[in-house]
Amino acid sequence: MPTPLKRIGILTGGGDCPGLNAVIRSVAKPAMAYFNASVIGILDGFEGLVEGKMRELSHLDVSGIVNLGGTILGTSNKGDPFHYPVESAGGIAITDCSRKALDNYITWGLDALVAIGGDGTMNIAYKFSQMGMKIIGVPKTIDNDLEATDITFGYDSALAVATEAIDRLQTTASAHHRVIVIEVMGRYAGWIALGAGLAGGADVILIPEIPFKWHSIFDCVVRRSRGARFSIICVSEGALPEGGSIVVAEKDARRTDPIRLGGIGNVVATRISEATGLETRVTVLGHLQRGGSPTAFDRILATKFGAMALQAASRGEFGTMVSLHGANVITVKLEDAIARQRLVPLDSQLLMAARAVGVALGD
Ligand code: F6P
Repeated sequence: MPTPLKRIGILTGGGDCPGLNAVIRSVAKPAMAYFNASVIGILDGFEGLVEGKMRELSHLDVSGIVNLGGTILGTSNKGDPFHYPVESAGGIAITDCSRKALDNYITWGLDALVAIGGDGTMNIAYKFSQMGMKIIGVPKTIDNDLEATDITFGYDSALAVATEAIDRLQTTASAHHRVIVIEVMGRYAGWIALGAGLAGGADVILIPEIPFKWHSIFDCVVRRSRGARFSIICVSEGALPEGGSIVVAEKDARRTDPIRLGGIGNVVATRISEATGLETRVTVLGHLQRGGSPTAFDRILATKFGAMALQAASRGEFGTMVSLHGANVITVKLEDAIARQRLVPLDSQLLMAARAVGVALGD
């Protein structure tokens, strides 16, 4: 059913990634130009919806931002309205503030809300759609772990940064005949480690989907110490040894995802040095993977996603997420997008190609 679009809300939720501003631009520009609609930017993700933080965006606000990293709206990964941290005398109480958020949506007179985010944001969007909010999701995350889309924007930009980092580590590792471990992000999915490791020519790639055997890593670096005389190990922050557990950097109940991963790179480097005596260094790439300009691929994908989200809103296709399916952007139901995490399948051609070129995967 065609929907009159006079006031459109837009927010960016969860961790930022390159391409968010390109989506904001491609929703706002046609909304203003073709629907003569006002575009309400909700600040700091769902936190802004709860706290009533917003501002109307002008044409100038959304011009010249296609190449800009971060998000002009701000974001938060601690603003889940259904589990909202409220400060009280007794400390922080996790409270359901969804009604307050819905009231702001109604008070602001929004005809549609475009929520750009990862799995946390899509879960929240689904719950609000069940409460009657006219909401459409746009999938972002460097982790590429969202189901029901071939790819999320942000992933390609993170891959480019991680690949360049590996290229740089290759030359210094080679010069000093060292083992260098690089830890990359990705949460419970190995897409970044596998993609960047493959593109950067890593010798060992460790991903959460394949728990590793320590001796498999030691064998590889010792063998290489006699030939090439250096090794590069690309490890995903969610990787874990067989029978071991994932390394947690922080637990925080206020976060949409209460567990933050990180630290396995140092564990792997220490164990290699102790077991083999080889000189070993570690680089934790961290938030460099999320910062800076989007790649051309991400700018184009984000622009398609935003434009299609607005079209879907005009057709009344709420409770959906835009999704890349082959070469086309389609809409899928939000419940399909949040059904499960998209992990690297064990029969993936990426894994097959990695093995073909002699990469050790720790198994
Ligand atoms: O989901 C994106 C991501 O960068 C993950 O790869 C990482 O585990 C997490 O966010 C880091 O969160 P924070 O920004 O809170 O440090």
